[in-house]
Amino acid sequence: MPRRAHAHAAVAAHLLVSAFVAAAAAAAATYNVIDYGAVGDDGGVTDSARAFEAAWAAACAGDAAAAAATVVVPAGGVYLVSRARFAGPCRSGAVAVNMTGATVVAPVPYAGVQLWIVFQDVDGVSVAGGTLDGRGRALWACRRARRPDCPPATRSLTIYRSRNVAVRGLTSRDSAGIHITVQASAGVAIVDTVVSAPGRSPNTDGIHIKQSTGVTVRNAVIGTGDDCVSMVEGSSDVLIEAVTCGPGHGISIGSLGDTPEQVAVRNITVKGSALAGTTNGLRIKTWAKANAGAVAGVSFSGVVMRNVSNPIIVDQNYCPGNASCPTEARSPETCDLGSGIEISGVSYTDIEGTSATATAVRFDCSPSRPCAGIAMRDVRLRYQPPAAAAAEEQPAASFCRNAHGVAFGDVDPPSCLTE
Ligand SMILES: *[C@@H]1O[C@H](CO)[C@@H](O)[C@H](O)[C@H]1NC(C)=O
Ligand SMILES: *[C@@H]1O[C@H](CO)[C@@H](O)[C@H](O)[C@H]1NC(C)=O
Ligand SMILES: *[C@@H]1O[C@H](CO)[C@@H](O)[C@H](O)[C@H]1NC(C)=O
Ligand SMILES: *[C@@H]1O[C@H](CO)[C@@H](O)[C@H](O)[C@H]1NC(C)=O
Repeated sequence: MPRRAHAHAAVAAHLLVSAFVAAAAAAAATYNVIDYGAVGDDGGVTDSARAFEAAWAAACAGDAAAAAATVVVPAGGVYLVSRARFAGPCRSGAVAVNMTGATVVAPVPYAGVQLWIVFQDVDGVSVAGGTLDGRGRALWACRRARRPDCPPATRSLTIYRSRNVAVRGLTSRDSAGIHITVQASAGVAIVDTVVSAPGRSPNTDGIHIKQSTGVTVRNAVIGTGDDCVSMVEGSSDVLIEAVTCGPGHGISIGSLGDTPEQVAVRNITVKGSALAGTTNGLRIKTWAKANAGAVAGVSFSGVVMRNVSNPIIVDQNYCPGNASCPTEARSPETCDLGSGIEISGVSYTDIEGTSATATAVRFDCSPSRPCAGIAMRDVRLRYQPPAAAAAEEQPAASFCRNAHGVAFGDVDPPSCLTE
């Protein structure tokens, strides 16, 4: 029966072809940077930037019908990358980048660019593992020496104009500038992150959020020379949870209001976190300038402080060196305008620990826009003078200026808020 035999052969051939197509699709879904020319075993000498971008471009252009495209940076390698742009939108939809066990290093002495590694205009990207080493020492030294010719303080990782991005298990160390920036984006999760830079490294914020909504930072260990987490204009629906901060300048909203750009920060939650040896704990900071804006709906809860210089601080009179702040530059008596930013609906619940200064709670609000609706519940902060043993803790003080709100439960130092 030749005809049937032929039919069987055709079916078998068809199945075979289907299997090949499936295998090819699965294989095509992985884009190994080595295949695009990256070098990870020469001690970080060869610039692999173009290889990284080529692997990304291939993954991004891949077939939407295939399994999610994955860019693989093989474990164990040390890859020099001068600068890299991972741009979308991607035809393949979701793209994963797996850097588990790999180290990506910036050039020395300087990258000389504003942004080192950037994901932009992407939707549905996940980045797993890996270490980014910004090797910022030479740049910090330049800035500390106030040399006029320092190149830009290169930011290590930037997520820009993107949606649905997850960064998991990343280690970022020694960025020349800000370690991780989320800007003009929505739906970004940064989890299981380690950020480290020396306490004396200038402007090395851990995670910086700007003009973005729906941002989660969970399980992060951050020690830097600036804010562990900073949130500035346009940050909304942000959740910061289980962050360990120190050294650094604390968890900060601001600085806000330096420029006339409209400032709106709302619905920020910080919970279950710990700060140790930081200059600030939970801070809201605005310039003493008339620029308008609002910070509304901020909840701080379950935070432990150890040896924090300003555990709870709202500073609406920020004006370093008294330069270019018309209201603050006047004498305190005539300084009757202050910041144009309204702060309202800020709660502090279950905050405890030690302050390295006598004033553990400071609400220094704007004369023209007093803080409204501050709520404190179960806040216990003691003053532990430098070099004093825990047994020598003393009562701390609180300071209020133009600050309205209420206190419930066990609040020590006693609240100075007025209704
Ligand atoms: C990344 O690759 C490693 C192998 O190098 C694997 O064990 C791990 O599951 C991958 N992670 C993700 C999120 O795909
Ligand atoms: C506030 O932000 C949280 C995320 O922290 C979000 O789940 C919640 O829906 C937001 N609330 C409002 C009223 O938008
Ligand atoms: C407190 O923190 C400072 C840094 O701000 C550090 O120098 C000092 O050793 C710390 N003290 C204790 C008791 O941990
Ligand atoms: C700034 O001005 C205030 C009030 O006039 C003054 O107390 C303070 O010493 C000034 N600071 C600097 C750095 O000039």
